[in-house]
Amino acid sequence: MIRTQVLGIGSYVPDRIVTNDELRFLNERHERQAEPTIQTDDAWIQQRTGIRERRYVANDGQTSTSDLALQASQRALADAGVAASEIDCIIFGSLSPDFHFPGTGVVLQQKLGISGGNCACYDIRQQCSSFVYGLQMADALIKTGVYKRVLLVGAELHSHSLDFTTRGRDVTVLFGDGASAMVLGPQDTDDARSGVLYTAAYADGSGANDLNLKIYEIKRLPYLDYDPKDRDNNKLMYPHMDGKRVFLNAIRGMVMSSQKALAVTGMTWDDITWFVPHQANLRINEKVVEFAKIPPEKALNTIQFYGNTTAATVPLTIDYWRQQGKVKKGDRILTSVFGSGFTWGAAIFQV
Ligand code: COA
Repeated sequence: MIRTQVLGIGSYVPDRIVTNDELRFLNERHERQAEPTIQTDDAWIQQRTGIRERRYVANDGQTSTSDLALQASQRALADAGVAASEIDCIIFGSLSPDFHFPGTGVVLQQKLGISGGNCACYDIRQQCSSFVYGLQMADALIKTGVYKRVLLVGAELHSHSLDFTTRGRDVTVLFGDGASAMVLGPQDTDDARSGVLYTAAYADGSGANDLNLKIYEIKRLPYLDYDPKDRDNNKLMYPHMDGKRVFLNAIRGMVMSSQKALAVTGMTWDDITWFVPHQANLRINEKVVEFAKIPPEKALNTIQFYGNTTAATVPLTIDYWRQQGKVKKGDRILTSVFGSGFTWGAAIFQV
């Protein structure tokens, strides 16, 4: 039977580290000011979220989301021993795409040097749940023989669309820039527990107004009604979030989807090597571990030093802990994710 295997993983974060203390002094161009620009402090951020620092791209206006994705993709391809020319499908998850359209998948395809018609490109908009949604798509497309080498990418350049004033502090402190990628392909095997063995994706559109970044509303005339030089008066340019509703729904969605993943597959935590949750808030992940009765030593996080990189978080965290020597080839991962939409989901797979 054809089953989907993870052939390689790669990740990339920019070099610039922005600590909680430095963040307080940055303007919208990420330049340090003499006086604080955001009324916040390291103790508040760490206590509520566990975040100590995050990464930002250089503030020279030269880097796009696709550039972060390119770095992560090249690392994943090298890890898999697969040439870019072998990729016949890209699935690209991002809430910070290079442009409104076309999707960033085709931009990445061109940067990888594989444009020309032999590689399909999907862009998916499931925000922090992109990895599980994308993995489910890749798994279905590979198992049915449609594609043989799928590049699943999550990349985010958040730092250009955050509000560097006190008004936006609840959101701005949470997010960082980064990218991750996975190469997936088929293997003919009778081992029902190998490779990608479970994916489940959920959505509840009644949460659509609780976390979003509108920029424009197409129903309006003119559909863009702000002056981009007057960012302070233009709320649509910045993310909007009902933090408490997101917090509570994230815990519920991640607990229930994790428990269901085990129930459906008949597995227990003895069968799972690592729990790698989406990285939105360390306090959310601690509650999920507690309520879902997950062995705490199996939970892997990176939010402390990368913040929330949305579509990138899960393979980014796996890759980080692989480089630290914890995650090893063949380890079985259970992931659960939650994000804007609301969307959420869970997956079990071997790396
Ligand atoms: N620094 C200092 N104070 C801040 C702050 C910051 N960065 N952000 C908010 N505050 C203030 C608020 O203004 C409020 O002040 P007030 O009581 O004077 O009005 C106070 O802190 C409490 O705000 P509240 O929103 O109730 O805080 P909270 O305990 O809910 O924590 C979050 C805020 C954002 C950390 C939390 O709601 C959260 O993590 N939610 C989930 C976010 C998330 O995961 N998003 C991505 C999902 S994929």
